[in-house]
Amino acid sequence: KGLRVADKGFLNTAVLRSEITYIDGEAGVLRYRGYPIEQLAVQSSHLETAYLLIYGSLPTKHQFQTFQDEIMHHSVIHADAEQFFRSFRYDAHPMAILTGALAYLGSYYSEANPSLQGQNLFTKGDKASLAIMDKQIYRLIGKATTLAAMAYRVRQGREFVTPPTGLSYTGSFLYQMDHLGQENYVPNPVLEKALDVLFLLHADHELNASATTVLQTSSSLVDPFSAVAAGCASLYGPLHGGANEAVIRMLISIGKPENVPAFIEAVKKREKVLSGFGHRVYKTSDPRSFIVRKTADEVFKITGKDELLDTAMALHDAAMKDEYFIKRKLAPNVDFCGLIYRAMGFPNDFFPVLFAVPRVVGWLAHWRQMMLQPGGVKIWRPRQIFVGAAKRDYVQVDDRI
Ligand code: CMC
Repeated sequence: KGLRVADKGFLNTAVLRSEITYIDGEAGVLRYRGYPIEQLAVQSSHLETAYLLIYGSLPTKHQFQTFQDEIMHHSVIHADAEQFFRSFRYDAHPMAILTGALAYLGSYYSEANPSLQGQNLFTKGDKASLAIMDKQIYRLIGKATTLAAMAYRVRQGREFVTPPTGLSYTGSFLYQMDHLGQENYVPNPVLEKALDVLFLLHADHELNASATTVLQTSSSLVDPFSAVAAGCASLYGPLHGGANEAVIRMLISIGKPENVPAFIEAVKKREKVLSGFGHRVYKTSDPRSFIVRKTADEVFKITGKDELLDTAMALHDAAMKDEYFIKRKLAPNVDFCGLIYRAMGFPNDFFPVLFAVPRVVGWLAHWRQMMLQPGGVKIWRPRQIFVGAAKRDYVQVDDRI
C-alpha cells in the first residue's frame, strides 16, 4: 500500500551504507577502501588487497604473513570431496561445478552454520566469534582456487593435485590446474603475476548482482558457504561474470575484422548484444579495462598475440565511434580480459571461474561488513506492487471453461 513505482533492476535504491568500494561511474574512478585501483594493481597483490577489502586497512608485514599463511594452509580440501567432483559429467560447465562445490563445502563446517549452532554467530562481534568468522574467510579464499582447479581437472578425467606449499596464491592455482599439461610444470612468473593483477581487479566491485545476492542470501543468517555459492550462481549469468566467456564466443562468431561492421549493425537492430560493453555504473571506460590492456601486452609477449585480438580491436574502435554506443554511453568493461585467459590457454567456459575465484574476496568483505554493522542484520525483504487478479472464488474442475 502506498507503493506506486517499482524500481526494476534497483536503478535508484540504496540498500546499505558501505565503506568498502567507491565507484564514480561518470569519471571512471574505482577505489578499494580509498586506494585507487591503478595504484593497487601496480603496487599491491591480490591477497594483500583481499586483506584491505575485508579488514579495511593495508596489513602490516606480520598481519599479511599470518593472513597469507592461514589462507594457504586452508587451501586443502577433504579427500571425500573427490567423490562429489567425480559425480559431474565430463562436459559439465565449470561454474555449475564450482557453485555446487561451494555449497557442498558448507556441509563440512557446522561451526559456521548458525542454524546448527542455534545462535547468530557472526553478528556478535566478540573475540571468539570474530575468530570463527576469520576462519571461514581463510577457508573460502583458500579453497576457492582448489575447488576451481578440481572443477577443471575432473572434466579431463585427471587426478586432483594437492595444493603445493611455498607458491603464491595464483602460483599455487596455476600449479594445481597444470592447465597446459606439461611435465614438471612450473608456473611462468609473468603469467602468475598477470593472473594476480587480474584477480586483484576482479576482487570487488561494490553492489553488483552477485555481491547483492550474497548479502540478500546472508540476510537470513545462512552460513557463508551457502551465501557465496548463491553469489557464484548469480555471477554465472552472461550479463555479469559469464560475459567474459560470451565475449570470446562473440569474437569467434564474428571471425575476421572485416565482419565487424555487419555485427555492429546487428547490435543496433537489437539482434545481437555486444558483450564486454556497457555497465550499470560506468558511463565512460571502466578504469579496469586500461589495466587489462596493459596486462594483455605483457602476457602476449610470452604467449604470442591472440588471433582474435585484431577482431576485438576492430570491434572496440567501431563501437567507440558509433553514434548508437556514444549516445548510450556504452564503453568497454572488464570482460575483454577473456582474450588474456585464452592466450594463457584456459578454455572459454573456464573464464567465469577466473572471475568467481577472486570475487570470493569481495563477497566476504561485504558479508563481514553486513554481519558486523551496528544494529545487527535486517532481513532483506523487498516489497512489490501487486497487479494480479482481485479476490475470486475457487471453481471446481468440471465447471471450468
Ligand atoms: N550492447 C548493445 N546495447 C547495449 C549494451 C550492449 N552491450 N549494453 C547496453 N545497451 C543498450 C541497451 O539496449 C539500452 O538501450 P535503449 O535505452 O535504447 O533500450 C541502453 O544501452 C542502456 O542499457 P541497459 O540495458 O538499460 O543498461 P543496464 O545498466 O540495465 O545493463 C549491462 C548493464 C552490463 C547488463 C548491459 O550493458 C549489458 O548487457 N552488457 C553486455 C554484457 C556485459 O558485458 N556484462 C558485463 C558487465 S561488467 C562485469 C560485471 O560486473 O559483471
